[in-house]
Amino acid sequence: MTEPAAPGQPGPHDASPNRVSRRQLLGLFGAGAAGAAVGAAAGAGVAVAATGADAGTGAAAAAYPFHGAHQAGIVTPAQDRLHFATFDVSTTLDRDGLVGLLQDWTDAAARLAQGLEVSEDGAVGGSDYAPPADTGEALGLPASGLTITFGFGPTLFEAGGIDRFGIAARRPAELTALPRFQGDALQPERGGGDLCIQACADDPQVAVHAIRNLSRIAFGRASLRWSQLGFGRTSSTSTSQQTPRNLFGFKDGTANVKAEETKDVAEHVWVAASDEPAWLAGGSYLVARRIRMIIENWDRVQLGEQEMLVGRSKGSGAPLSGGTEFTEPDFEAEGPTGTPLIDPASHVRLAHPTGNGGARMLRRGYNFVDGNDELGRLDAGLFFLSFQRSPEQFITVQRSLAADGLNEYLKHVGSAIFAVPGGIRPGEHVGQALFA
Ligand code: HEM
Repeated sequence: MTEPAAPGQPGPHDASPNRVSRRQLLGLFGAGAAGAAVGAAAGAGVAVAATGADAGTGAAAAAYPFHGAHQAGIVTPAQDRLHFATFDVSTTLDRDGLVGLLQDWTDAAARLAQGLEVSEDGAVGGSDYAPPADTGEALGLPASGLTITFGFGPTLFEAGGIDRFGIAARRPAELTALPRFQGDALQPERGGGDLCIQACADDPQVAVHAIRNLSRIAFGRASLRWSQLGFGRTSSTSTSQQTPRNLFGFKDGTANVKAEETKDVAEHVWVAASDEPAWLAGGSYLVARRIRMIIENWDRVQLGEQEMLVGRSKGSGAPLSGGTEFTEPDFEAEGPTGTPLIDPASHVRLAHPTGNGGARMLRRGYNFVDGNDELGRLDAGLFFLSFQRSPEQFITVQRSLAADGLNEYLKHVGSAIFAVPGGIRPGEHVGQALFA
């Protein structure tokens, strides 16, 4: 934490609208002192205004542009922390009210991404006789690589046959509730939502501050439905990043779609201008699954069996067919006894594009531990997030994974899908093309 010393901290009585806030000062100073350390990711269309360290490696002071061709938080090098939330829009809100909310969220998010408070008055610059506009817990903290990504759920377009906002005809045909998958143990309180916000940052306080303040801005217009905190990214989304590990202890993200693979990103992640509907061009579909891991059972499994279930070596992440981490798996390779080196029921075999009509996706999940259950087992797992050009990509792979040996140690308890509109230009609000 870099809470600044009191001198220079604007107090409640020096609320000049033109003063440079402590957080602005920090940002300016950091940028000037360290220069713009723009990593390899920038060359791949990932604009990085970093202030000193490698992208996605815990660069506390990095700030990613909020505006651009695509929303930030998708190909952005996955940050270390997540606060994800879904919202239900109030039944009393009309179309203009919804647009107003999206405008207010956009304005606030653009400021937060720069390390600013939600408004100029902020936490301490307003009236002594009114609640502060910003809740204050991020005062003095840098932007911390914060990205805020908005999504629209199927129920925003039509709920119970009612077209609340006059957008039912504009719902993407593919934006429907996900089908039921084998083994699903979904809890209704961890599913769905009219809107979602994914806040990722390298500091958990910054991510939580973003969701808290955006929820607060929505007061009376949309209410929090469910939310999830995540730590320890379980994917890399840039070749500049090390592959992290999930709570099974395996490297996760090795074969992910990476930002630098611009052709694959265009083919598998972004909705193209030639796809339907036109308003979603440059956007994507986001699938969220809260996957509980039965880690106490997993921890009693022999190393060899763990590796067989995944299809990769636990230490290096290399496929069991040989090579190093980034060697392509060879599913034909056989051992001395003629059995495949990579088990046909292994996760990697079943999730690989070869068995799924070429389907790939950009995975961007996080580990979670939310206390423990009544049996004394950790309520732990992987909050799976994936971005894809069509929900069909996720559906195809998830159906293949019905045969996955890992399922004995997994339980899908939460699920949601959202259409993520394309990038936001200055002066626009998120999803503006939908309401045009
Ligand atoms: C808690 C549940 C899961 C765990 C522990 C897990 C773990 C892993 C691991 C260790 C890898 C190998 C490293 C890598 O390439 O990233 C992997 C790959 C992969 N996983 Fe998962 N995964 C889980 C759930 C899912 C789900 C729900 C999907 C999608 C429906 C999925 C899709 C994939 C894909 C597409 C790959 C890359 C396969 C390839 O091209 O080689 N995973 N996963």
